Amino acid sequence: MNILITGGAGFIGSHVVRRFVKNYPNINIYNLDALTYAGNLENLRDVENAPNYKFLKGDIVDADYINEIFNKYKFDGVIHLAAESHVDRSITDPLAFVKTNVFGTVNLLNASVSSWKNDFSEKRFYHVSTDEVYGSLGDKGLFLETTAYDPNSPYSASKASSDHFVRAYGETYGLPFVITNCSNNYGPNHFPEKLIPLFINNIIENQPLPVYGDGKYTRDWLYVEDHARAIDLVYHKGRKYETYNIGGFNEWQNIDLVKLLCKQMDVKLGRAEGTSEKLITYVKDRPGHDLRYAIDATKINEELGWEPSVTFEQGLEKTIDWYLNNKEWLNSVTSGSYKEYYQKMYN
Ligand SMILES: NC(=O)c1ccc[n+]([C@@H]2O[C@H](COP(=O)([O-])OP(=O)(O)OC[C@H]3O[C@@H](n4cnc5c(N)ncnc54)[C@H](O)[C@@H]3O)[C@@H](O)[C@H]2O)c1
Repeated sequence: MNILITGGAGFIGSHVVRRFVKNYPNINIYNLDALTYAGNLENLRDVENAPNYKFLKGDIVDADYINEIFNKYKFDGVIHLAAESHVDRSITDPLAFVKTNVFGTVNLLNASVSSWKNDFSEKRFYHVSTDEVYGSLGDKGLFLETTAYDPNSPYSASKASSDHFVRAYGETYGLPFVITNCSNNYGPNHFPEKLIPLFINNIIENQPLPVYGDGKYTRDWLYVEDHARAIDLVYHKGRKYETYNIGGFNEWQNIDLVKLLCKQMDVKLGRAEGTSEKLITYVKDRPGHDLRYAIDATKINEELGWEPSVTFEQGLEKTIDWYLNNKEWLNSVTSGSYKEYYQKMYN
C-alpha cells in the first residue's frame, strides 16, 4: 500500500510521518513537501533511511507535478496536511493562503479522482483541518462537528474553503474522504512563530514575551503526538464521509498559559521564580482575533476510543525539555529570514 502524506516536513506532519513509517513497515510512505520556511527535513532525520519512506520535494499548487506523482506512485490514500498555517502571515499575505490551502487542496482532489478512476474501494482522502473554521465562541459552548462554519481570518477562511471542497468532492464524485478539525497543537518541532515555541525561545534569549491584547484569548491545547495518534486512528478506522473534531479538553487563557510556561522555564533554567514572568509585554491586538475556541471531542472518543494521553503540564514539560535539548534545531530555524519576520511582526 502507498500513502501520500503532504506537509510531512512541517510540525504536525513530521509526527504523522514518523508514526506511520515506524508503525506500518508494510505501507510505503511518500512525504510530499515544498519545504517552505515551515518545512524542515531535520524533523525526520530518524526515519529518513527507512525502507518504507520516500521524500518528494514539490508544490501542491503545481497540478502537473501532482498528476505526475499520482501516476508514478499509484497512491492508495492521501493524508493532506500541507498548508500555510500561521494566522498572522495570512493577514499580511492572504493570497499565499488561497494558493496553497484552496488551490493546492483542489489539485490533490482532482488527482485523486482521476487516478482512482471512480474505483474508490480501499481508497481514502484524509483532510487535516482546524477548529478555527468554526469562528469564535463566547464564554460558553463547544464546537461540535455540526457547528456552522464562520471563519474570521484569511487563514481560517482558506481552511474552511478547502474543507468545503473536500466535502463537495465526496458528494459530487463519491470521493471517500474524512475530515478532522483539531484544536491548537503544541510539542517538539514546532516552528517558533506560534505562541508556545516562540515564548520558549524568547525566555531562553531573555527577550520580551509579546502577549496580544489583554491576554484573555482562550484556546484548547493538544499535545502533537496525541493528534498524530488520532490521525492514525481516523485514517484506519474513521467512517468515510465523516468529520471528527479532535481536542484536548484543555482550555487555557493565553495569559495563564504563559504564566505556567514561565514558571516551568524558571525551574528548567535554574532561574529564580518570577524571572521569566517579568518578560511579559502586552502588544496591540491582532485584527479579527477570535475570543475563544473549544472543542467537543465526544464523537471521536465514543466511536474510536481516542482520548489525549498526556496532561497539559506533562506535555508542556516534554516540550520544554525537547527545545532545551535541541538548541541546534532552534538556532538553525531562528537564524536568517526568521529575524526579519520577527522584526516585522513585533517591533
Ligand atoms: N498547528 C496547529 O495547531 C494546527 C491545528 C489544527 C490543524 N492544523 C492543520 O494541520 C496541518 C499542519 O499544520 P502544521 O502546524 O504542522 O503546519 P506547518 O506550517 O508546521 O507545516 C506545513 C508544511 O506544509 C508545507 N507546505 C506549505 N505549502 C506547501 C505547498 N504549497 N506544497 C507543499 N508543501 C507545502 C511546509 O513546507 C510545511 O512543511 C495544516 O493543514 C493546519 O491547517 C494545525
